[in-house]
Amino acid sequence: MPKPIYVLNGPNLNLIGLREPAIYGVETLDDIRRRTEKRAETLGLTVDFRQSNHEGELVDWIQQAREGADGIILNAGAYTHTSVAILDALNAASKPVIEVHLSNIFRREPFRHTSYVSPAANGMICGFGPKGYEIAIEAMAELIAKAGR
Ligand code: DQA
Repeated sequence: MPKPIYVLNGPNLNLIGLREPAIYGVETLDDIRRRTEKRAETLGLTVDFRQSNHEGELVDWIQQAREGADGIILNAGAYTHTSVAILDALNAASKPVIEVHLSNIFRREPFRHTSYVSPAANGMICGFGPKGYEIAIEAMAELIAKAGR
């Protein structure tokens, strides 16, 4: 039985559309959820799209993915640059992981150039705004298809 793809969003991503629109754009997280679900549907995948401002809740969800998901797409927000706990949870998940950022983190402040998520990820997509979530779904569909072969 196919399981959903968890699309997990970290702190302050509930405010996008309002927060620093010059960096993050004007689409809300709900708009991005709809876009992501639509793209997933065309590929025969389902999505479980969530957001939390709490590091431990993100860790809990990544742990749930071990049993509950076929893959994880994660925009960990600022925890990307700080969280060993999220890295450890991803390493324990034994699932394909795709890291997403709306902004190009390498064009921004030096503290955003380090990602604790990347070592656990199959790949990273950044700098394409909400489109990055659709690209991540496409890449995830291929990773899952390859794993099933
Ligand atoms: C972000 C980039 C992070 O550096 C930042 O803390 C965010 C959003 C992005 O999607 O571009 O909250 O993950």
